[in-house]
Amino acid sequence: MFKYKDYIFGSSLHIGLILFFGLVIAVLTQIPFAPPLILHPLFMTLFIILITEGVALLQPTSTEKEKKKGLKLHALVQGFAYVFLIVGFGIMVNSKMQRGGPHFASDHAKFGLTVFIYIFFQALFGITTAYFPGIFGSVTKGKSLWKFHRMTGYLFLVIVWVTAQLGIRTDLMKNFMPVPNLMAGHWVALVLVVIGIAGRVRIYKWGLVPNPHQHASQQDSSAILQYHEQQTVNTNETK
Ligand code: HEM
Repeated sequence: MFKYKDYIFGSSLHIGLILFFGLVIAVLTQIPFAPPLILHPLFMTLFIILITEGVALLQPTSTEKEKKKGLKLHALVQGFAYVFLIVGFGIMVNSKMQRGGPHFASDHAKFGLTVFIYIFFQALFGITTAYFPGIFGSVTKGKSLWKFHRMTGYLFLVIVWVTAQLGIRTDLMKNFMPVPNLMAGHWVALVLVVIGIAGRVRIYKWGLVPNPHQHASQQDSSAILQYHEQQTVNTNETK
């Protein structure tokens, strides 16, 4: 049942992302060649597509094997996305420095700066909970914090897409849209992406409802394991 739904929502997401990419490229082909004006939107669009796909690919994982494979791919895709962000961000900030333009003046630029700072902490927390969970006191404790990386990840995705919407509505992008009515296409793309991501969310992974894939006995045993681990930590602390 999940697989069938995932396919439908996944298709919605991919069509939305392709439409978003196509609309940006349609504008970029119209802009007289000036590297920062072309490269910033291009790199940022690639960043947005990768970061969204990097979230989507982890959504349906449920077995240990799927989760392990998903985590590897997630780390790789988000790593590439981060590189695109650094390059695209650097190009625009550098261009503003050369031109002596004001920094982080528009709403788009302010949100962009927020994205740039946020991703650092998001990645740091994700890497430590996934690869060095022991830092948080115990491996179980570290792994249990992963759900917060998941929640803050969705918030991050919202901020990224708000930044993207402001970016595609900057004067430059609006003025060079070949057919002004095509701007409406960005709403269609956004709706498709939101439906695609929202439709594949597993609320149980946020720890708010029980995991439907796990038997009650398994849930009991993991709770017991967690309890014993906590007891051991407490005993060691009081020694
Ligand atoms: C989440 C992705 C994005 C981030 C983090 C981001 C970040 C930024 C930042 C920080 C600036 C201003 C730099 C400064 O003031 O020194 C800027 C400017 C600009 N960005 Fe983006 N951007 C993103 C996506 C986009 C997209 C998708 C487009 C268009 C398709 C775009 C188009 C522009 C344009 C035209 C400017 C110059 C006008 C302005 O400063 O408002 N950006 N961006």
